[in-house]
Amino acid sequence: MRNKITIVGSGNVGATAAHWIASKELGDVVLIDIVEGVPQGKGLDLLEAMPIEKRDSYVKGTNDYADTANSDIVVITAGIPRKPGMSRDDLLNTNYKIMSDVVGKVVQHSPKCILIIVSNPLDAMAQAAYKLSGFPRERVIGMAGVLDSARFRAFIADELKVSVENVTAFVLGGHGDTMVPLPRYSTVAGIPITELIPKDRLDAIVQRTRDGGAEIVKYLKTGSAYYAPSAASTEMVEAILKDKKKILPCAAYLDGEYGIKGLYVGVPVKLGSRGIEQIIEIKLTPEEKAALDKSAAAVKELCAVINV
Ligand code: NAI
Ligand code: 2OP
Repeated sequence: MRNKITIVGSGNVGATAAHWIASKELGDVVLIDIVEGVPQGKGLDLLEAMPIEKRDSYVKGTNDYADTANSDIVVITAGIPRKPGMSRDDLLNTNYKIMSDVVGKVVQHSPKCILIIVSNPLDAMAQAAYKLSGFPRERVIGMAGVLDSARFRAFIADELKVSVENVTAFVLGGHGDTMVPLPRYSTVAGIPITELIPKDRLDAIVQRTRDGGAEIVKYLKTGSAYYAPSAASTEMVEAILKDKKKILPCAAYLDGEYGIKGLYVGVPVKLGSRGIEQIIEIKLTPEEKAALDKSAAAVKELCAVINV
């Protein structure tokens, strides 16, 4: 039987994720949105692209959660994106209301699914979805680290003019200004980037990574990034559906790991068919640990506002 992937929110990130997922033939895709007509139109358009792509993925757009029943994975992108001058945190109350509306319906129709949360502010929305769903922590995962580390990797590859395939990089912490790119654990063909890029250039790349979302909002003006965010979500979907046991930075509910308890924060995890199969604890220097704690404190503050 084919896998079934539901994407809630058929805006920029949701529709583009549906495109990547169907093009990779990861399963049948249901696109759902509160707006009538848009998911149906985009879903049909994608379905009609499948003969050209030579992919047997059925794509359906809908406003009815009955169509999402028994999904294996549900990716939640519903919510407002930011505009120039707004931080991700400015979206908190509106997107929490949307998350409260969506999660109950998703869980009712797909009680065994794995939830991938994309809506911002990411870590607080993942924490909200975890609490609202009542799912175990391994089945509620936030997407941010894959995107942030992809941005870091793209900038490193561009700086050194090497293949992106040679570059691995890690970004920990919350998906915000306090995120923690880790140059020490970032390599080019196994060589630490700290040995390849001078400190001043590396500091600039780290800062550009932190500002990566804002850089794109500034260009687009009416919304935020969606190609890389939807590709990042698709990498997580693929790792789970193919049980790849892939180590990726994701927002996970920490229960004492990294000295943090009861909070979603970005850390390296192993993704497989059960969702988060392991939280990988890496050794941090006192400075890195302090930066992670600062980032976690920022997430905690947001969670307190919406009481999750
Ligand atoms: P968008 O505005 O293009 O699409 C959002 C969609 O959600 C709209 O079609 C809207 O009708 C729908 N929606 C709103 N309320 C809904 C409800 N109750 N039920 C179902 N659908 C509903 O926005 P875009 O660019 O797709 O971004 C979506 C969210 O993802 C934003 O919150 C954005 O900040 C976040 N985001 C997060 C990233 C991350 O790294 N975690 C990266 C990029 C975006
Ligand atoms: C980004 O980093 C908006 O969170 C989104 O592009």
